[in-house]
Parts: sequence; structure tokens; C-alpha cells
Amino acid sequence: QKADSENLRSPICCIMGHVDAGKTKLLDCIRGTNVQENEAGGITQQIGATYFPAEILKDKTRELKPDAALKVPGLLIIDTPGHESFINLRSRGSGLCDIAILVVDIMDGLKPQTVESLKLLKMRKTPFIVALNKVDRLYGWKTCQNAPFVKAKNQQCKDVQNEFNKRLTEIIGNFKEQGWNSDLYYKIKNKDMGETISIVPTSAISGEGIPDMLLLLVKWCQKTMVDKLTYSEKLQCTVLEVKASEGDGTTIDVVLVNGVLHEGDQIVVCGMQGPIVTTIRALSTPHPMKELRVKGTYLHHKEIKAAQFIKIAAQDLKHAIAGTNIFVVGPDDDLEVIKKLTMGD
Ligand code: GTP
Ligand code: MG
Ligand code: NA
Repeated sequence: QKADSENLRSPICCIMGHVDAGKTKLLDCIRGTNVQENEAGGITQQIGATYFPAEILKDKTRELKPDAALKVPGLLIIDTPGHESFINLRSRGSGLCDIAILVVDIMDGLKPQTVESLKLLKMRKTPFIVALNKVDRLYGWKTCQNAPFVKAKNQQCKDVQNEFNKRLTEIIGNFKEQGWNSDLYYKIKNKDMGETISIVPTSAISGEGIPDMLLLLVKWCQKTMVDKLTYSEKLQCTVLEVKASEGDGTTIDVVLVNGVLHEGDQIVVCGMQGPIVTTIRALSTPHPMKELRVKGTYLHHKEIKAAQFIKIAAQDLKHAIAGTNIFVVGPDDDLEVIKKLTMGD
């Protein structure tokens, strides 16, 4: 067994905010994909998920010369819809995550679903950072592709800097009205971390500030969540969505927070008509840096260790209920006890 700090699972990060703030586009920018343009009406209507391995995080944050080593194996990011009708999906996503990114459009400031997200995050005591997105829309903004924010800001003329400062001050004021202190992340003293919301200005179109956003997330997790992120054998696995998919019949998309799943495991899933006892036929994940929702090739696994997003194929999943936990029946377990546990959620 390695030392605790070396046995961390990937943090799970949820991305939230008002409709069209740029949540999906930010992920597209990191992935080099165009998921957002292929969404119906450009609106996210399902939970999405992407795994970013540590090598990618290292590469994307290189220009900031991170002082501390990366200890997490990667980062799992859950994309949620901002449209008001999807409160249940936002709630489910935010309930699972270790940390969150709240995306605010710098041209729009705080909107109803920004405020709703703040309430969800507060209720669940989830730490979060703010991505103050669309800085490239400031009139006269000079593109500095994928540059750390301060470097990009220093390239801007006085007018753009003034406009930025004006909007930032307004938004800090709006957060204050909601009961939160906030400031640019690099102005916050260590002792105030957690008390004051860290704001990272970003552009999902030209990538400014994305290195800062990724580094801040990882540093924060490594600094404040070592216990929570230390890998545990005890299975913790939640159903995100139940999907009818061609070929496999119904599958369930799950987040495996802790523990291991194997092909052939007997599992118990909470169902609308009672507990569903079934056997895992196949376990698959999207490729790293690919989005769960995009049809394409999946990686198949004989066994898989947390933390991961996984598609499980098994018989009888049609009535499975999203948001509930699943259990594996071990050799010494009493099936009846596990059935009760499953339905207890
Ligand atoms: P929902 O999932 O529907 O809530 O929206 P979202 O927050 O995922 O926003 P999305 O990624 O769909 O972006 C909405 C629109 O804003 C799209 O037209 C994007 O191209 C645009 N957009 C997003 N980020 C930026 C940005 O940083 N700069 C500019 N100029 N446009 C952006
Ligand atoms: Mg979206
Ligand atoms: Na959108």
C-alpha cells in the first residue's frame, strides 16, 4: 500500500451555471472538440462527462510552471445543463462532485441559474471556483491563444483593461449581494482560500485563463481534500442516467466514486418496481478527453477502478432510477440485506 497522498482517486468536478454561459464550450476548448455545436439548439439537455488524465493537465498548465507535483491521476468533469428546466440534472451532478466550476458570462453577470447554482453549492458545502467566461468579448480584446490570464491581460490596451475591471467590480458586487466575498484568484491570500470565491477569467473560444482554471482546481483538491480523495475499496457508485441504447438494450451511465467494478459482478440497482438484481455484461468508458454523450468507440474494461464514468450494460435495467446508488453482491454478502440497502436511498 502506497502512502495515502500517493493513492488518490481523480477528483470529480461539476461545471454549472446559467444557460449559455459557456460550460460546454469551455470543455470543448480543453478537449479540442466541438460537442457544443452539435447539441440541439446549442443547449445541453443531458449530463455529459469527460476524463482528463494527469498528463493532459500537466501539459495544459505548463506555462504556469506549477511548483507542486500533480498527485491526482486525472480529473473527471461533469457537464450539466443550464436551462431552468433541468434543475434535477444540476442537482444530481452537483451532489456527486468534490469541487465545482461555476461559469459566469462576463457580459451578463449573475443570472437566475447562477444564483440557483450558488444555493445548491452552499447547501451541499461544495467548494467551487468561478470561471468568468467570454473575456474575448470585451471590445478590442487581443487574442492570446491559451495563455495564462495575467499574461493575456498584460497584452491588452488600457481601454480593455478598464472595461474588464469595471465588469469585474460589478460582478464582485453582485456576489456580495448574494452573501459571498469574491476576488481574482491570484489576489486571494492563502488564509482566505475557501472564504473568498476565486474568480478565474477565461475564454472558451481562444483559451485564455484555461491553464489557470485547471491548475487552480487541481491545487485546491490536492491541498484541501487529501482525505476525501484517498482511494477507498468500499464501493460508492451512483447512477447518472438510464439510457435506451441500440444493441445493448438499456444501459446505465454511472459515476464510480470509490471501489472497483468487474465484468460479471452481480449488482443490485434501485428500480421503480423494486430492487433489480442483475449481472454486469459489459463495462465501458469513453476515451480520455472524449465526451460520454458523443457516440463513437468506447473502451471496454474487464475491471475498472474509481474514479470513473462508466456505461454498464446488463439485463433488466429499464426501470433503474437515476440518482440512486448501486451495490455489488460479494461472496459473503446476503442478497436480501443488499436489496434492502439499495431501496433505502
Ligand atoms: P447550456 O449547456 O445550454 O446551459 O449552455 P452552456 O453554458 O454550455 O454554453 P455553451 O457552451 O452552449 O455556449 C453558449 C454560446 O456561447 C455558444 O454560442 C458559444 O459559442 C458561446 N461561447 C461560449 N463561451 C464563449 C467564450 O468564451 N467567448 C465567446 N465569444 N463565446 C462563447
Ligand atoms: Mg452546455
Ligand atoms: Na448552450
